[in-house]
Amino acid sequence: MKHFLEVGDLTKSEIEYVLQLSSYLGETHEDALHQTNVLFCFEKPSLRTKVGTEVAINQLGGRVIHIDPMAFLGGKIMHAKPIPGHDERESLKDTVLNVSKWCDAIFTRVFSHSTLLALCKYSEIPIINALSDLHHPMQALADFRTIQQEYGVEKIPITFIGDANNVAKSLIEMGIMLGYPMGFCGPNAYGWSKEQVNHFKTLSYKYQGSFQYYDNAHNAALNSMVIYADTFVSMGEEGQYDEKMEAFNGFQINSRLMSLTPDEASFMHCLPAHRGVEVTNEVIDSNKSLVYQQAENRMIVSKGLFTFLIKEKGTLKTIEKTTIYN
Ligand code: CP
Ligand code: NVA
Repeated sequence: MKHFLEVGDLTKSEIEYVLQLSSYLGETHEDALHQTNVLFCFEKPSLRTKVGTEVAINQLGGRVIHIDPMAFLGGKIMHAKPIPGHDERESLKDTVLNVSKWCDAIFTRVFSHSTLLALCKYSEIPIINALSDLHHPMQALADFRTIQQEYGVEKIPITFIGDANNVAKSLIEMGIMLGYPMGFCGPNAYGWSKEQVNHFKTLSYKYQGSFQYYDNAHNAALNSMVIYADTFVSMGEEGQYDEKMEAFNGFQINSRLMSLTPDEASFMHCLPAHRGVEVTNEVIDSNKSLVYQQAENRMIVSKGLFTFLIKEKGTLKTIEKTTIYN
């Protein structure tokens, strides 16, 4: 059994396989998830991840059950009269072992990545990360499907401009593993730790990709074929709004910055976007913008990922008659 909490939970071959399987299932609409039940539990809001994945599971003949985090993640639901020393409804261990008897996977978005690790400790079924504070690996799958649709096999330079956070980390990790030159640019106060940069460098030695830190957005734009953005203030960080707005001044993706990129360059964003903050309307609505294609691909890659983890039990198979570029 395989979980998918972060990009590194899949090998390079498995990532390529999931992308290929997604294309295949996107075309054939076969009932790959027939008789499959997936528990969805979201501690934070979601549009693309929740709806896109539910549609994918439905299209493949599976079913989704939504549970409130208060009833699942050791929620602080009180008994009619609290029992001293027992402020949780039940232990996470009991909850997860119960769910493991009925469902085939748990798909969950959590504030703290440690919650996912705790689930994995007990779970008898795959745990799939729908975003945590540290990682957003499903987003990266959709992003590289989008990039391959646009640029084929060419390993074009991709730079994330903004906050060193979940989306950026998964994007950079997957890019390096797939052999892309990855860049990052953002204010030092919200950049990567030394340990994280070392991790990107270690990945780069192992795979054919690379990692470069740009000290200003101008240089990043001159050297990148894809400019990628995310919100400056992530879910759960609302209290840091004022200081982050100040720190990220100068890192907005606007027409002036995009004009420095090559003619064939693209703009990407995981969404939700804050128009006028990290990106201007002109850029997100321009013909360089791939944001809706990325969103569509969130649905398609869910098909490959869930089929691989649930039905194929995380083992590579041969797929006939398919290409990853359609
Ligand atoms: N990109 C993304 O994960 O979007 P949602 O928060 O709407 O799921
Ligand atoms: N970094 C953002 C991504 C949203 C999809 C957040 O965590 O809120």
